[in-house]
Amino acid sequence: MLEEKWWERSVVYQIYPRSFCDSNGDGVGDINGIRSKLWYLKKLGVDVIWLSPIYPSPNADNGYDISDYRGVSPEYGTMEDMKRFIQECEDSDISIMMDLVVNHTSDEHPWFVEAKSSLNSPYRDYYIWRKGKAGQVPNDLQSDFGGSAWEYSEETGEYYLHFYHKKQPDLNWENENMRAEIWKMMNHWIDMEIKGFRMDVIDVIGKDPDKKIKENGPKLHAYLQEMNRETFGGKDMMTVGECWGADTKIGRAYSDPERKELDMIFQFEQMQADQIPGKQKWDLRPLDLVYLKHTFAKWQKELEGKGWNSLFWNSHDLPRIVSRWGNDKEYRVESAKMLATALHGMKGTPYIYQGEEIGMTNYPFSGIEDLVDVETLNAYQERKAQGFPEEEIMRSLCAKARDNARTPMQWDDSPEGGFTKGSPWYRVNPNYKEINAKRALEDKGSVFYHYQKLIALRKEEPLLVHGTFELLCPEDRHVFAYVREWKCKKWLIICNFYEGPTEFSYPGKGRTILSNYEQGEEVLLEHIQLRPYEAVICEVM
Ligand code: NOJ
Repeated sequence: MLEEKWWERSVVYQIYPRSFCDSNGDGVGDINGIRSKLWYLKKLGVDVIWLSPIYPSPNADNGYDISDYRGVSPEYGTMEDMKRFIQECEDSDISIMMDLVVNHTSDEHPWFVEAKSSLNSPYRDYYIWRKGKAGQVPNDLQSDFGGSAWEYSEETGEYYLHFYHKKQPDLNWENENMRAEIWKMMNHWIDMEIKGFRMDVIDVIGKDPDKKIKENGPKLHAYLQEMNRETFGGKDMMTVGECWGADTKIGRAYSDPERKELDMIFQFEQMQADQIPGKQKWDLRPLDLVYLKHTFAKWQKELEGKGWNSLFWNSHDLPRIVSRWGNDKEYRVESAKMLATALHGMKGTPYIYQGEEIGMTNYPFSGIEDLVDVETLNAYQERKAQGFPEEEIMRSLCAKARDNARTPMQWDDSPEGGFTKGSPWYRVNPNYKEINAKRALEDKGSVFYHYQKLIALRKEEPLLVHGTFELLCPEDRHVFAYVREWKCKKWLIICNFYEGPTEFSYPGKGRTILSNYEQGEEVLLEHIQLRPYEAVICEVM
């Protein structure tokens, strides 16, 4: 067996700085706010913070449009605050994983400002420029945020490529000097003792726009191997690539340690379990549990011994899982715990998104005027233009908009949920009086303590880290159950995704390890009546 890596036993907590905790009352979360909550993360037991971008940015896409890779946005604090934060994390045994957004920069990054000014700029080739065709865009490539991926630039009369917002021009990874600048920048952060990188849409860097290739371009893996060699390789750091277009074969290519690329990827196949196949995320279908289970099982099996999975339900790009696949009304606590159990029982590195650990829910948006995210607003316009009825558009946006994840963290029942003393940059969910961290910490039966137990279990039990995975009852439409096995020990994880009672059976008896309802020490597995959203982890005897 390969030597165990520290991140195989770790649990990651994602912080979206803008919405986490505001220390100075300007309504925007900041680094000192995060510092003031390190005790909370310590209590939860997480090992790594994935810090969404804190760099200077015009905020066309909330920080994913970076204008200075080495700085700290004044909204979030100073470099001194950042250094203190890094030091305090180190003292608390928490690693920081920085967000690395190098598929594109902001159009206000000095490279782009230079590049667009003249055809002869030394930075011109850092980006991707094409002449128009008969006064039209070079080709029909589309931006993820809607509309053409090409934007005309008056200064030089050419178009530049942007797969996201037009204020996020794509970098040209073919350019060696540009790559060298990126390596220098990464090494700068490594020298500042950060312990990892989460790589934004990294599967797009190998694009070939003339062949209309976006993800998984021909040179993608060569670039990642070069990055590994030139920066973090051999440094015992943690790297995860965001890859929307990966299948298991591609997942192995990234995360097979022998290939020296990344440690793991975020792939999103399972997150399509409530989307009409082949359509957009806004085209809703009820959760297809059978699809969800098969997808998880496929990734668990096909990366076994050959790569590593990341496990997540949530991020700043996804709606709140308890509203999505649980029940955020009468079974909020039970279903949030069940979902946590289903995920944390598997093999891989679990990620928790801020607020997930207290069962935060989607926002009850009443109309388009409540929403602010660039992707959401563009989707609204696009669907309107396509003739979708307002009601249907709003149903999709309420279910899937990224805005759901970005409402401020609910700390207590004081005004604005204790997130800020000022006026928050974005609306706080009105349920903050009931759902908040303070209340969760006071209640031993809260979602928080369930997450705390799951995190602790991963530390205590090598089976959770290394055990094999076997899916049970694959066609059952209510129950997600699987077996983990390691060195003659067998654990059974049973999760009822249904809001009514459901039956489940497995030979023999089990010793209860963790559950979300009152549960005896021993479970008769042959005939279990699962309660709504019940989840049990037990050792098979
Ligand atoms: C993925 C990020 O997670 C998302 O928030 C962002 O809008 C796009 N990449 C573009 O950077």
